[in-house]
Amino acid sequence: MDARPVGVFDSGMGGLTVLHECLVTMPNEDFVYLGDAARLPYGPRPLDEIRRFAREIAGYLEGLGVKLIVVACNSATAAALPELQERLSVPIMGVIAPEAHAAVQATRNRRVGLLATQATVESGRYAELIRAHDAGVRFFPVACPRLVPLIESDDPFAAETVEAVREVAAPLKRAGCDTVILGCTHFPLIRPILQRVFGRDVELVFSAEETAREVSETLARKRLANARKHEGEYRFLTTGDPAQFRSMGARFLQLPLGEVERVALADLERSAA
Ligand code: DGL
Repeated sequence: MDARPVGVFDSGMGGLTVLHECLVTMPNEDFVYLGDAARLPYGPRPLDEIRRFAREIAGYLEGLGVKLIVVACNSATAAALPELQERLSVPIMGVIAPEAHAAVQATRNRRVGLLATQATVESGRYAELIRAHDAGVRFFPVACPRLVPLIESDDPFAAETVEAVREVAAPLKRAGCDTVILGCTHFPLIRPILQRVFGRDVELVFSAEETAREVSETLARKRLANARKHEGEYRFLTTGDPAQFRSMGARFLQLPLGEVERVALADLERSAA
């Protein structure tokens, strides 16, 4: 029995889709979530810079006394996961390995597509992990620079988003992919658009469910799970505007957010792992 909270972080709101699944899968655990809204988006940034941000946030969360950290951002996972694992003493899990594994299991024609940020595509992490599971899978990555800003806008379901999704889906449809990895934690929010554009025959793989399952199994196997019977608590930190985080966050979490605390970038910088 370990009553410490689990830390979760993302560049902004996207990781709340992962947190949502974690809250459902591990109702007894406490969680602390940090959204780095002041520096969103991560996707167009160089991998080195994203790595530095991830080291700051992970170091800060470790300082708060968390027992495990979930990097609920594909871009930060792609850029920084191995380095974070080397530098920190608590276990750190990302969102890429669970999705790559699920996609290889799901594909029937061994043609897998990826929609993700530029940083994630550029890192090549999905290609490596898919190859490790099945070297015969043909892999088609597509960078989607327009989607995250549209999803964080006031109207994520506008015609412009549908048009942007059609544009990135086209090469994957031409390649005949029967499985598409949604390699960005923001994408579940536009699930209905993605499902309509790809159609029923294409299997969409989301990180949230796969990751929550792995986190839960890891806590149990490492004997870090919280054995209490009542529901756990969750709290939120942001480097951006707490009021904006609260109002927009509910859309991603689909649960009430409560208080949101602000963290100064200077405090994160001091905490770098
Ligand atoms: N949610 C993040 C991801 O999963 C990225 C969004 C961004 O900051 O560009 O990649």
